[in-house]
Amino acid sequence: MRQSRSIITVALIVLCIFLISQCINKSNTEPVIITNKNGEQFAGSATCANCHKNIYDTHIHTAHYLTSQPALEKYIKGSFETGKNFYAYNGSVLIAMEKRDRGFYQVEYYRENEQKAHRFDIVIGSGTMGQSYLYWQDNYLYQLPITYFTAAKAWSNSPGFPDRIIFNRIITSRCLECHATYVNKTSPPEEQHETFDRDKIIYGVDCEKCHGPAEKHVEFQTQNPKITIGKYIINPAKFTRQQNMDLCASCHGGRLQKIKPSFEFTSGDKLSDYFAVDTSAPDPKKIDVHGNQYGLLRASKCYRTSNTLTCTTCHNTHENEKGKIELFSQRCMTCHSGGHNNVCKLTKTMGSAINTNCIDCHMPLKYSNVIAVQLHGDLAPTAALIRSHFISIYPDETKKIMSAMKNSNQIH
Ligand code: HEC
Ligand code: HEC
Ligand code: HEC
Ligand code: HEC
Ligand code: HEC
Ligand code: HEC
Ligand code: HEC
Repeated sequence: MRQSRSIITVALIVLCIFLISQCINKSNTEPVIITNKNGEQFAGSATCANCHKNIYDTHIHTAHYLTSQPALEKYIKGSFETGKNFYAYNGSVLIAMEKRDRGFYQVEYYRENEQKAHRFDIVIGSGTMGQSYLYWQDNYLYQLPITYFTAAKAWSNSPGFPDRIIFNRIITSRCLECHATYVNKTSPPEEQHETFDRDKIIYGVDCEKCHGPAEKHVEFQTQNPKITIGKYIINPAKFTRQQNMDLCASCHGGRLQKIKPSFEFTSGDKLSDYFAVDTSAPDPKKIDVHGNQYGLLRASKCYRTSNTLTCTTCHNTHENEKGKIELFSQRCMTCHSGGHNNVCKLTKTMGSAINTNCIDCHMPLKYSNVIAVQLHGDLAPTAALIRSHFISIYPDETKKIMSAMKNSNQIH
């Protein structure tokens, strides 16, 4: 009797150990499955690399891919070096950026006494102009008070923050909708202070933001390697002009007011079914970060007169083409060159030098009002530069560019 009881006990213990080990194995090896509201599964861009290697290899260097990432050292632009790692509000209050055991922290000090510390959890922004940082508290997301401004190469007060330290600025799904591919929201739609599932985030504006959740495509093409046409995948090359514009405008169309829950708009959808689209012509003088490239382009003569111009006429979104002004100029010349009558009036006076830069004269750079800081000892603020998408004739810019080109002997 006693013997059989101890056999049962041993058997039970063995069973328990087995069950526990199963649980541990499960949480370690089972991939996190992320689905959108229709239950369509995301495959993750790493899987695309198996069959679209060239596109994947260039895409991971784009501002889109890098626009949100976990806060690893390689993604944070600012410095943690002593002497460069703080922002002082006044003589006694400052925030220092510190590397600690569990990661990177923004630490508030009052007269050198630590008041508060929160960890960098998510980086927002590739850093072209700047980066903001978010931290988790339970399943809520908040913005850290200090931002990195690239033009000044310095830490600074986050834009829109008054001149005091705020650690409790709430991050909404709208912010993530433009800066990430997908985030699983766990709070009910009517809840203002939203919660998210930390494990169900697809960082960056990744492949499946523009091509839709692709699990089915991956499964099909893997099982049918001989089929050379793509199935179960969205290809914007087959969109109408408006569908094409709507995809880009969902994030580059200025402040849109949503009329449906976040993350429901999918590539190929009609934007106005999801947002109250602002159709008033934007003021070309008021461009800024979080501006409206879509509205400005739409107001330009190029867009209004041609029936084909879209964002992807000039932008190859799979590549980082920042700064390649000559390449962009060649794209202008697909419509404005010798064979067509609408060539630049300055073509004769400038000679071949004109071909290298249509951009600075017709899409000038303007200073941002939002991403600007007054550096210690400077009279004028240091600001980020933003490209106007109102393609037009700017006589003052022309004078500046002409004299710069004369000075560097590009024209006579
Ligand atoms: C097992 C191989 C395989 C994987 C993995 C794969 N694809 Fe494809 N995909 C193909 C093939 C084959 C085609 C058809 C030939 C082509 O257009 O390159 C294709 C075509 C496409 C097209 C164009 C469709 C069209 O209508 O012309 C897109 C867009 C696309 N894939 C996106 C993706 C994305 C995004 C991923 C990752 C989530 C992915 N693919 C993963 C094999 C794959
Ligand atoms: C889900 C939102 C989203 C969509 C959709 C989107 N973009 Fe973007 N795009 C962004 C964000 C956010 C940035 C800023 C990235 C950064 O620097 O952090 C950006 C940056 C860019 C840049 C600047 C790149 C650079 O090198 O500085 C270009 C060009 C661009 N997008 C073009 C497009 C085009 C064209 C489309 C449509 C095919 C498009 N985007 C669709 C969110 C989006
Ligand atoms: C409507 C879409 C949209 C929303 C909402 C949005 N952004 Fe952006 N954000 C963009 C785009 C597009 C850019 C690229 C610059 C531009 O065109 O204005 C950008 C640029 C930025 C940059 C500069 C990136 C760089 O590399 O220079 C930061 C930082 C940023 N956003 C943070 C935020 C934060 C934080 C929120 C939420 C509180 C937010 N954005 C909400 C679309 C959006
Ligand atoms: C910002 C949106 C955006 C992102 C992000 C994006 N694509 Fe695309 N993709 C497009 C557009 C727009 C086209 C159509 C281009 C055209 O009109 O020719 C396209 C076309 C394609 C095609 C069809 C073949 C071709 O080159 O025209 C494939 C395959 C593809 N993308 C794969 C990918 C993969 C893989 C990734 C991620 C590594 C990715 N895309 C990321 C917008 C995007
Ligand atoms: C898809 C074709 C297309 C592309 C690409 C294109 N344009 Fe145009 N653009 C036009 C058309 C059509 C007009 C109207 C011409 C007319 O009035 O006869 C125009 C007009 C203009 C004008 C006159 C604007 C005005 O307000 O009078 C300028 C300047 C211009 N384009 C510059 C550019 C530059 C610079 C680029 C490249 C960054 C470019 N375009 C790309 C088609 C295009
Ligand atoms: C140095 C500045 C500068 C550069 C570089 C430049 N443009 Fe212009 N462009 C102008 C000015 C100024 C005008 C208006 C001239 C006038 O009306 O007398 C103009 C006029 C135009 C027009 C309108 C022509 C018309 O008949 O109304 C087009 C189109 C145009 N440019 C396209 C281009 C393209 C394409 C390039 C690059 C190949 C380019 N421009 C390079 C300054 C420039
Ligand atoms: C006629 C050509 C043309 C078209 C069409 C066009 N862009 Fe651009 N875009 C440019 C050029 C040129 C730049 C500057 C590139 C650089 O400086 O590296 C630029 C820069 C940008 C940037 C970076 C902004 C900055 O200030 O550096 C974004 C974002 C962008 N474009 C988005 C879009 C979107 C979205 C559309 C469609 C609504 C669009 N573009 C249509 C030519 C174009």
